[in-house]
Amino acid sequence: MFEAGLFGGHRILVTGGGTGLGKAMAARLLELGAEIVICGRRGGVLEEAAAELMERHGGTVTSHVVDLRDAGAVDAMVGEIWATRGPLTGLINNAAGNFISRTKDLSPRGFDAIANIVLHGTFYVTHAVGKRWIEGGHKGSVVSIVTTWVTTGSPFVVPSAMSKAGVDVMTKSLAVEWGCHGIRLNAVAPGIFPTEGATARLRPSSNAHEGERADNPMRRLGEMPELTNLIAFLMADGCEWLTGQTIAIDGGHALASGAYFTRYLDWSDAQWAEAGERIRAQTQRDKAERTAPSPSPHRGRG
Ligand code: HXC
Repeated sequence: MFEAGLFGGHRILVTGGGTGLGKAMAARLLELGAEIVICGRRGGVLEEAAAELMERHGGTVTSHVVDLRDAGAVDAMVGEIWATRGPLTGLINNAAGNFISRTKDLSPRGFDAIANIVLHGTFYVTHAVGKRWIEGGHKGSVVSIVTTWVTTGSPFVVPSAMSKAGVDVMTKSLAVEWGCHGIRLNAVAPGIFPTEGATARLRPSSNAHEGERADNPMRRLGEMPELTNLIAFLMADGCEWLTGQTIAIDGGHALASGAYFTRYLDWSDAQWAEAGERIRAQTQRDKAERTAPSPSPHRGRG
């Protein structure tokens, strides 16, 4: 679909690039010639992903351990990238946190756990990168992963829906404010592209995808290359007048059905309790893999 070497000379940061959608997007851009930087909270997971991606596609992938909720740490990471690799040409805001919960059951800390990653963290990275582009006179491209809930809203994921809506509005706002610097911002709203992290936290029952396949106008879920090709198209040079747009890739789900998770309207207290337990167990497993930020980033080849 794209020419080999399309991203030669590009250096792209993918937040949350060690797993799931982020890793798949990083792989596609690497395959097309970009130098990739990935970041996340789990050092071991990042190092493994970087090694695997380079093994499979060659090129250079470096990784940084960072918690996006820490604005100082984010700025330090971006400064380090500029100093050790050179200016980025692109940023993919992919990192997110989410879990299903009845909104009445959320604590303020539960709300913050999601909003601090999705809304605040995405702003911190975009700001740290964008201000350096403007200072250095570099053009750049940002693609943020949002959801179709930014227009429909969605029950049981209210902190995520509110935060993603903020990222969507950031995209539109900065497309205008930073257009004169050659910086463009677009967003992609994927439908269901199953990943371990999202499935565990949003669909903790085993047959969750069955009904969603049947409800989709195309009677199926997304296939990862469809998403990664859209990302490559948006990041590539060639239609740089395209900015401030949010593109859904969901087989027409949002147009046909709107909000997600309406099936959970019928869940009993016991079902919610069981879902909460399973989700928390997944979070504990992830936490056990987190490492303190290392003083210098893991280096890839190149
Ligand atoms: C209610 C919960 C909860 C749950 C946590 N909390 N899980 N509340 N139901 N299932 C509450 C806790 O009780 C606590 O509040 C607060 O949240 C913080 O909990 P921590 O465990 O300390 O959180 P933390 O370690 O910061 O973890 C953040 C996280 C976690 C968001 C909770 O899930 C995470 O790290 N996620 C990253 C990966 C991820 O979520 N991937 C899926 C992305 S899917 P109290 O008051 O008790 O102290 C996605 C949508 C895509 O983004 C959609 C496509 C269509």
